[in-house]
Amino acid sequence: MDNKIFEGGFFIAFEGIDGAGKTSLITLLNEKINGLGITTHITAEPTKNYIGKHIREILMGEREGDEKTIAALFLADRIDHLTNPTYGMMGQLGRGETVISDRYYLSSYAYHVPHVSLEWVIAANSICAALRRPDLTFFIDISVEESLHRLTASRDQLDKYENERRITEVRQNYYAAIEKVKSEENIIIIDGHRAPSAVFDDVWMYIAQWIENKG
Ligand code: TYD
Repeated sequence: MDNKIFEGGFFIAFEGIDGAGKTSLITLLNEKINGLGITTHITAEPTKNYIGKHIREILMGEREGDEKTIAALFLADRIDHLTNPTYGMMGQLGRGETVISDRYYLSSYAYHVPHVSLEWVIAANSICAALRRPDLTFFIDISVEESLHRLTASRDQLDKYENERRITEVRQNYYAAIEKVKSEENIIIIDGHRAPSAVFDDVWMYIAQWIENKG
């Protein structure tokens, strides 16, 4: 494994419907990359920063917000996530650090349609794509049934988007969006129904392959 590839500022995004298992995969990946002596930044959208806090309040029903407002807030949160002089990913990647994000703009393509059109959300997020496309995006795919099963087993309260109709729509939206942007994005679909270690082995295999092709 050529560690040099990480030093150039490596950006990996994880995507999937709720309950896909992104969090455990990110933990495993973080351990693996740290084990190579490389520093990582683990991050997520919505962020914990000032715009992300407003988004979470809306998702939890503590504040009212129209779906178009939510789409615009996610975009603002993402631009700040990239460009903020203190915690921005652009700065981290520019210093050659590795960033792993739990969700990025592909989530917006999946979660905000049909409240805004896919064309609008792709065009709006082109600001972010121009700043930084992920080197690799992993879409961890699970069925709607599995998603609901995992969510009800792990949560006391489900948020605004966590119901069967909505999860079905989001999964379809992910597939439609991936089809539309696959020529400009490096998106890998991974079967997320298996044990975390088996899913992780697949993720790592693709990263190793990508590094080999780059090296
Ligand atoms: P999630 O990753 O599920 O966070 P948590 O595990 O803390 O609940 O993200 C919260 C919700 O935000 C999720 O339902 C997807 C939604 N979301 C959007 O609607 N648009 C976006 O652009 C992003 C990044 C997330």
